[in-house]
Amino acid sequence: MASQKQPFRARRALVTGASGGIGEALAVGLARGGSDLVLVARSADKLEAVAARVRRDHGVRAEVLVADLSTDAGVDHVITSLADSRVDIVVANAGLGSHGDFADDSEERNRTQIALNITAVTRLVHAFLPGMLARGVGGVMTVASTAAFQPTPGMGVYGATKAFVLSLTEAVWQETRGRGVRVLALCPGPTETGFFDAAGSSSLEGGRQTAEQVAAVGLRAFARAGGPTVVSGLGNTVIASAHRFVPRGLMARMSALYTAGD
Ligand SMILES: NC(=O)c1ccc[n+]([C@@H]2O[C@H](COP(=O)([O-])OP(=O)(O)OC[C@H]3O[C@@H](n4cnc5c(N)ncnc54)[C@H](OP(=O)(O)O)[C@@H]3O)[C@@H](O)[C@H]2O)c1
Repeated sequence: MASQKQPFRARRALVTGASGGIGEALAVGLARGGSDLVLVARSADKLEAVAARVRRDHGVRAEVLVADLSTDAGVDHVITSLADSRVDIVVANAGLGSHGDFADDSEERNRTQIALNITAVTRLVHAFLPGMLARGVGGVMTVASTAAFQPTPGMGVYGATKAFVLSLTEAVWQETRGRGVRVLALCPGPTETGFFDAAGSSSLEGGRQTAEQVAAVGLRAFARAGGPTVVSGLGNTVIASAHRFVPRGLMARMSALYTAGD
């Protein structure tokens, strides 16, 4: 179960993509640890249901912000709504993949992935990190992916966005070390959520964890001092390490065995 007390006096957590999947599991785990929540996604009804559940089960405060984070206006709405209040933890989880060869990808789908997976993550962390550093307490968790460690043919833009998230998070981890703010990139492998339906793929199967298992790994690592990255699951950890030993061309061919074609 995703349960632990926060090691710092960080009480209010912003969780994006909290209406389902890994984000919902992270939000519930944070509530179980005593954090109040600000829950963000597009689906108001699902967010309200999560908010009601954590209020009832864990006695925390939970508010809902409905926003499309693939738009500048949606990100602006979140930042301005919270400008005058304290945010101790940012969990930048909302993300989207798209399955298909790059040449066939739609311009709009590429733009949406980049806006949601890169721009929104960058803007939200950038907006709330300075307050945490000024207070000397807080946490930033981004949700990258095992797709961040190597090219992902058949999901090329998605893998590239996650490589960005991983790289940025590791840089911020180093920049903020020793300043009271825990920075972590959670890298799940294939996980049983709505992600694959949203990505337009039914063929990416095998070895999936549950969202709760992934959230538990992330929150455990988040709650202790440590490195900038955690990969969920032993098999995924091995796969994510392969890029250190395998030539890049071979890595791309191996990766295609999993991510290419439907
Ligand atoms: N599932 C996997 O196998 C896997 C593996 C590695 C990494 N990840 C990463 O884990 C994160 C969570 O994914 P998941 O597996 O939990 O997928 P999911 O079940 O599809 O959940 C995605 C969440 O993001 C929200 N979202 C999507 N588009 C949005 C937008 N434009 N604005 C605001 N919120 C939006 C969704 O809510 P609404 O639809 O209500 O907006 C939902 O809450 C993503 O960053 C994903 O890349 C997933």
